[in-house]
Amino acid sequence: MKRKIRKIIILIIIAVIFYFILNNIIPLNKGTELYDGIVKVNNSNEYTKEELEKEVNLVLVNKNYGLSKDYKPKELVIPDILFTSDISREEKHVDKRIVEDLENLINSARKEGIILLGNSGYRSYETQNKIYKKRVKSEGEEMAEAYVAKPGFSEHQTGLAIDITNEENFLTQGSREAIWLEENCHKFGFIIRYPYGKEDITGIAYEPWHIRYVGKEAAKYIYENNITLEEYLGL
Ligand code: DAL
Ligand code: ZN
Repeated sequence: MKRKIRKIIILIIIAVIFYFILNNIIPLNKGTELYDGIVKVNNSNEYTKEELEKEVNLVLVNKNYGLSKDYKPKELVIPDILFTSDISREEKHVDKRIVEDLENLINSARKEGIILLGNSGYRSYETQNKIYKKRVKSEGEEMAEAYVAKPGFSEHQTGLAIDITNEENFLTQGSREAIWLEENCHKFGFIIRYPYGKEDITGIAYEPWHIRYVGKEAAKYIYENNITLEEYLGL
């Protein structure tokens, strides 16, 4: 009996070690492919590879436009910024193409005395599924859906969005950090993706913390015209 218990303990230890290695050492992108046929629109048509390479910044993901379960950005990297302490390694990643602008945004804010931290960047379909289910369990479906996208319908899966927070981990409407982000993020190619008063268009409640990369030209237009990505794309 004692030998059996010892065997089980050893197996558990081996499993924990494997889990640690898989999560921390093996790069997230190992073996992943380019965009070929991975991203879908409305679960029917697919973006072509050419479209995505050209206009990837403008990929629309919302309650009507989703991503397939296995969609993963080609290159995910961890930007050189501060993160909240309780964030997973996966969520520290963003699409490589937005790293420089994201770092510039954070550094520019710091020069003005505004400390911004990364809270949640890339999320796989599975991670979003866990987050969504947890929220439904704690707050019910209606409340969960106001703030958390269903798996496959979250911009976080594109690697082009990141939730930003402050040192108190409480970036609320009207806070210095929220105001700074709202007034400045377009200079770095980002938009406040779920603005106040646009809930009926985005389908998501006001989120001052969720910024989405669309490129500087689109971000400037969206900011100056006080519109959403849906409106910019004519949807
Ligand atoms: N909070 C946004 C809507 C998401 O879950 O992707
Ligand atoms: Zn978000």
